[in-house]
Amino acid sequence: MKKYTDIHDIENIPKIIQEAIALKANPFQYEHLGKHKTLVMLFFNSSLRTRLSTEKAAKNLGMDVMILDINNAWNLEFKDGTIMNLDSAEHIKEAAQVISQYTDVIAVRAFPSLKNKEEDESEYILNNFTKYASVPIINMESATAHPLQALTDAITISELTNKKKPKVVLSWAPHPKALPHAVANSFIKMMQSIDVDFSITHPEGYALDPNITKNTPISYDQEEALKDADFVYVKNWSSYDNYGQVLDQNPDWMITQEKIGNATCMHCLPVRRNMVIEDAVLDSDNSAVIQQAGNRTFAAQVVLKKILENL
Ligand code: CP
Repeated sequence: MKKYTDIHDIENIPKIIQEAIALKANPFQYEHLGKHKTLVMLFFNSSLRTRLSTEKAAKNLGMDVMILDINNAWNLEFKDGTIMNLDSAEHIKEAAQVISQYTDVIAVRAFPSLKNKEEDESEYILNNFTKYASVPIINMESATAHPLQALTDAITISELTNKKKPKVVLSWAPHPKALPHAVANSFIKMMQSIDVDFSITHPEGYALDPNITKNTPISYDQEEALKDADFVYVKNWSSYDNYGQVLDQNPDWMITQEKIGNATCMHCLPVRRNMVIEDAVLDSDNSAVIQQAGNRTFAAQVVLKKILENL
């Protein structure tokens, strides 16, 4: 693997899922692969799971890890030809090349502004690192994608089902703040790529990018959509058409025990209890959120392994 910025960088999804599950059973088997290799993790935004699980994954492979909260470094300029007489002190052209001299792999987390759709969709932060760095890039959640989370989710579904084609429903749920589309986008792409019966439910006005949802069935009737679901993946996102807007916080869309029945409840975390999902679900045996978070390590580890094997 040359990079991991999108789930389509994976050659064979069923195979990588099985490899990740094997790594979970024997995490230190490939400790030699990362000897004298370094991972630099750059954070433009907050993280708990991604930061710790990716560091753990790298260490399981014997890598050294350096972490930089980029907001504590020089302000980066991404535009070509700018007269840098304002806040930006360093251009991505130098920064990416310099960082590449200190490390073998660069992982980047950079959320969207949710103010300028075109700018966010250009993925200018991630793409400029890919363009100017001389080492492989891993996406730790960008403006439009969270491929490490999506791989984690596929691993978790694979672990928890013995059905050939489980019914998986992605349900929007209310949230007080405007959230990105990245987790939903990558989850949709992943579900479209594996053997599941997949559908989406959200209120009117919350349609995601049609280039991503494609022909996935979409329902505005949550109760109907959740019927007989094996997995309910819960996620809030802000409006895509009214870009970045919170149109409503209708509490009727919160995931409750009554709605979910015997289905397994998934969420990428962090989750706002009793706003997005009620306590009774999160505290029940039907919740897979902790297992999901645990699998973040092995999604990152299998991706790093594939990249190290290709260095
Ligand atoms: N799910 C996820 O990416 O968690 P963090 O934002 O804590 O990294």
